[in-house]
Amino acid sequence: MCGIVGCIGKNHGREYIINGLKTLDYRGYDSAGIAFLKQDSISIYKDAGSVEHVNSLIPIGEDGDAIIGHTRWATHGKPNKSNSHPHISFDGEFVLVHNGIVERFAEHKASLLKQGVTFNSDTDSEVFVNMIALFYKEEKNVLKAIKKAMETVDGSYAIALIHKGENRLYVLKNVSPLLIGIGEDFNLVASDASPMIEYTNKFIELGDKEYGYIEKSNYKIFNFDGQEVSKKLISKDISLVRHDLNGYPHYMLKEIEEIPDVITRLVNHYYLDEKYNFDDELIKKIKQSDHIIFLGCGTSYHASLVGGRYFEEMLEIPTASYIASEWAFHPMFPGKKPFIVFISQSGETADLIHCLNIVKKYNYDTLLITNTSGSTLERGCKYSLNIQAGVEVSVASTKAYAAQVAMLLLLVAAVKGEAKIADEILRALPIIKSIKDKQNDIKNVANIIKDKQSIFYIGRGYDYYLSLEASLKLKEISYIHSEAIAGGELKHGPIALIENETPVIVFFTDNVTANSMRGNIEEVKSRGARVFVISTKELSKDGDTIIIDQYPNYLSSIIVSSVAFYLAYYTSLSKGYDVDKPRNLAKSVTVE
Ligand code: M6R
Repeated sequence: MCGIVGCIGKNHGREYIINGLKTLDYRGYDSAGIAFLKQDSISIYKDAGSVEHVNSLIPIGEDGDAIIGHTRWATHGKPNKSNSHPHISFDGEFVLVHNGIVERFAEHKASLLKQGVTFNSDTDSEVFVNMIALFYKEEKNVLKAIKKAMETVDGSYAIALIHKGENRLYVLKNVSPLLIGIGEDFNLVASDASPMIEYTNKFIELGDKEYGYIEKSNYKIFNFDGQEVSKKLISKDISLVRHDLNGYPHYMLKEIEEIPDVITRLVNHYYLDEKYNFDDELIKKIKQSDHIIFLGCGTSYHASLVGGRYFEEMLEIPTASYIASEWAFHPMFPGKKPFIVFISQSGETADLIHCLNIVKKYNYDTLLITNTSGSTLERGCKYSLNIQAGVEVSVASTKAYAAQVAMLLLLVAAVKGEAKIADEILRALPIIKSIKDKQNDIKNVANIIKDKQSIFYIGRGYDYYLSLEASLKLKEISYIHSEAIAGGELKHGPIALIENETPVIVFFTDNVTANSMRGNIEEVKSRGARVFVISTKELSKDGDTIIIDQYPNYLSSIIVSSVAFYLAYYTSLSKGYDVDKPRNLAKSVTVE
C-alpha cells in the first residue's frame, strides 16, 4: 500500500507533491509526510492524519530543488508521527519514502543496531534508508550503496531517495509500482501516473530490481547487474488516469453513476462491428481447457462467483472460485487442463501475487482481468483483459465490480460466439441509469438501517452472489455488521438471528429460484424481520421497496449492484463517515 511522489527541478514542486499525495491517498491515508532538499539541507514535515493536515505544518514559502512525499497505510508500526515517512538515515545524510515491505526486517534491524545504527521508528522502511547510508560509508557512491542494499534486502519496494548535497532524486523498485514522468526541465516520480498526468504524458516504467536517478533534465536507469538500461517512453490514456470529482461530493457516488458509461466503453472495446474483439489464442486456450480456476479477493472474488456461473451455464466448463489468500496455502488445480483467471482491479494485490508465483511453477495459462495496465499481475500473467473502468478512487469498489462481471460475460459470449449477449448488455443500460431515480427510496432504507447493529442480505443464485457483495460494501464503509445468506441456508442456522425489526434486505431477481425465495421472505417476515425487497417487475409484489424493469436474468449483478452500492453509500453518509476513505482500509492491498 502507500503512495509515493517526488519531483526535481519542478517550479512549484510543493504544489505538485501536495496535490499528488491527495491523488494517491487512495493507496493509504493513515499518515503523510514530505521532505524538501535544498543543497545541503533537508527539512521534513510529517504526521499522522491527512495530507491537508501535514501541509498545514509546512511554513509558507517552503520549497525544494528535489521533494519527496508519502501517504501511508501502516504495515509495520502504528500510524503516528515517528512511523510516518519520509525516514531519515541515522547520520542524517539520506531521506527516503517507501512503498512496500522489507522481508525479515527484524533480522536486518538487529544487525544494523549491532553496527551502531540508531532507529527512530518501528518501520521496516527505516532499515532500508539506514542500510543505504551504511553502505555509502564503504562505497562512497550512492548507486553502489543502493545496489548493495537491493542485494541484501528481499521484499517489495518502490523508493524515492534524496541525498544531502546532491541535486538528484534516486529511485529503486521491486514488485511495488514506480513510474517516472519526464518533463521539460523537470522530472517526476510517483506510484502511478495519476499525479503526473497534469504535467506530462511521457512515462518510464521501472522494472523489478531496477534502480537509478532522475535529475532536472536527465535520468539514468540500471538493471540489477549494474548495467545502464535504455527505457521505452510510454504514454497513458488521460481519461483513464485522471481523477477528479466532477462536481460530485464523493468519488464513490461519481463511480456508481459512471457505471453505464463504463459498461458502454467496455462493450464497445470488446465488441466491434458486431464481432467480439479478443485475442484468438486466448479464446482457443479457454476452449481447450477442462476447468477454469478463478482467484480473487473481496469484491473481485465476488465477481468471480458470477463469472463462474457464466462459464458453467453458458459454456459448460466447470469452474472453481477461490479466495486468493486461502488458495495460496492450499493450492488446488482441478481438472487436467486448468486455465487460471486472476481478477484484480488494482493488479497489485499481494495475495494474488502469491498465487501467481505458485501457478508459474506449473506453467498453466493465466489470464488477468484488471483495471490497471502495467500492474505487477499484468506483467506476470500470459493474457490480460482491461475492464476499461478508468481510475477507481473510492476504496469501496463499485464500477470495477460491474465492469469485472460484464468483462467475464463478454469473454464467455466471445467463446460461445453469441452476439446477442453484447446487445443485451447495451440494451440494459437504461435500466442501470433508471436506478439513479430510485435514490430517494434507497435513502429511506439507509435511514432505517443506519442505527442497527446487524443486517442481513439474502438471495439465491445470482442474487446470493450479489448479497455477498452488497454486504461487504455496507460493512466496509458504514461499519455495520452485515451478513449475506443464501436463502436456502436460512433454516440451517442463521434464521436463529432474526428478531423483531432485524433488517433483512432481499435481492429477488432470480427467476429460477423465485418460488423458493418467496418462501424464505415469508419465513423471515413471520419472525419479525423488517424486510426490504428489491425485485424485478416480473417477480415483484405490492409493497416491494425497489422494483426494477425486467432484463435477462444473467445481467442481475451488473444492474442491481447499483442498488447495493447506493444503499451502502447513503448509509455511510447518514452516519457521517468518510465514504471514500473507510477506516483501516486502503485501495490496493499490497501486503498479505
Ligand atoms: O484490487 P483488487 O481487485 O485485487 O482488490 C481486492 C479487494 O481488496 C477489493 O475488492 C476490496 O474488497 C474492496 N475494497 C471492496 O470494495
